[in-house]
Amino acid sequence: MGRDKVLPDVQLALRPGIVEFGWGHPSGDLLPVADMQRAAGGALARAGVAVLSYGAPQGPGRLVEPLAARLGRVEGEALTPERLLITGGVSQGLDLLCTLLTQPGDSALVESPVYHLALRILRDHGLDLVPVASDAEGLRLDALEDALAQTRRRGRPARLLYLAPTFTNPTGRTLSPARRAGVARLAAAHDLLVVEDDVYRELWYDALPPPPIGSYGGSANVVRLGSFAKILAPGLRLGWMVADPALVQRCVRGGLLDSGGGVNHVTAHMVAEYMRLDLLDPHVAALRAVYRARRDTLAGALQRYLPPGCTFETPGGGYFIWVRLTEGLDAAALLPWAEAAGVSYLPGTLFHSDGGGRGHLRLSFSMLSPAEMGQGIERLGNVLRQAAARG
Ligand SMILES: Cc1ncc(COP(=O)(O)O)c(C=O)c1O
Repeated sequence: MGRDKVLPDVQLALRPGIVEFGWGHPSGDLLPVADMQRAAGGALARAGVAVLSYGAPQGPGRLVEPLAARLGRVEGEALTPERLLITGGVSQGLDLLCTLLTQPGDSALVESPVYHLALRILRDHGLDLVPVASDAEGLRLDALEDALAQTRRRGRPARLLYLAPTFTNPTGRTLSPARRAGVARLAAAHDLLVVEDDVYRELWYDALPPPPIGSYGGSANVVRLGSFAKILAPGLRLGWMVADPALVQRCVRGGLLDSGGGVNHVTAHMVAEYMRLDLLDPHVAALRAVYRARRDTLAGALQRYLPPGCTFETPGGGYFIWVRLTEGLDAAALLPWAEAAGVSYLPGTLFHSDGGGRGHLRLSFSMLSPAEMGQGIERLGNVLRQAAARG
């Protein structure tokens, strides 16, 4: 039987004629193919059979040791290797935590707005999601206290809070130091496990972000998920978890790692070799320079083409700019018009577990050239101007 459809190799699917601000993927031209080829060859040459064997459940020592040292160096938080677990990226780390630590029907607190695909993972585990509002300084502590009280009243006290406090997706905002300390304090007081998704931490463009939440105290209550997806390549499916040694051991002894060994063991060896060759730090520095310029280009285009009444904040890092529309406009309702005009984005409702966010949209600057961004935002500005005029 003939096949008329070729199955895709990648998740990204671009539509001709549309400037796609919706995809939060790294730029293909920034993926280090040649250096990875060198690292793959080097890993097999140096570690041979160990690369192709079942891996140590915590991750190969060749990666765990230098990664612990690197995280201590770039994040200023000294880290012993027993606090580190190699994962298949933030998504797999979050899924594993839910598998081991939650039951369907448990309450889970989520910052709002929040990374929309983390909501998918939490929902896969049947968790009852309770949004916690945020503002320009990030998660609001009063809202967190209210949510904790609400779940206690309902007889299902929340045991888990998921948030991405640094250059977050979708708003680009960063949780202030005072609120980090507050989250750490509340977590310890309420026996709450904070899952800190830190995937954009190294992509800062103006100044280093505040230290991770666990460094403000109560680190036994905080699990931090990191990833090579944004600083190296998402196809590696490689990341890490920083947690209390007892929780790392819980994961190591769980069925998944006991049966299959460490996840993504071959790519873990490749990345260990990439780091041994001292390629990672210069690569991240180069990414910062490129993405900083793209952020500035997108902010400049928005300044120029957005109609009055639409506002945005320029983020200090990450991939995204969050736009607030003129009062009364609905980003989801406008999307078909925008796409017909040749520009796409993600509507704000996707990032709320409770239907909020109608007046916002998310733009990603990670993948587009300056010319594309200028053209796309000019189109978006026209659509928004016409929609506001129609009333
Ligand atoms: C906040 C956030 N967390 C996690 C991820 C995915 O991480 P990983 O590829 O390591 O699973 C993304 C990707 O867009 C993200 O924006």
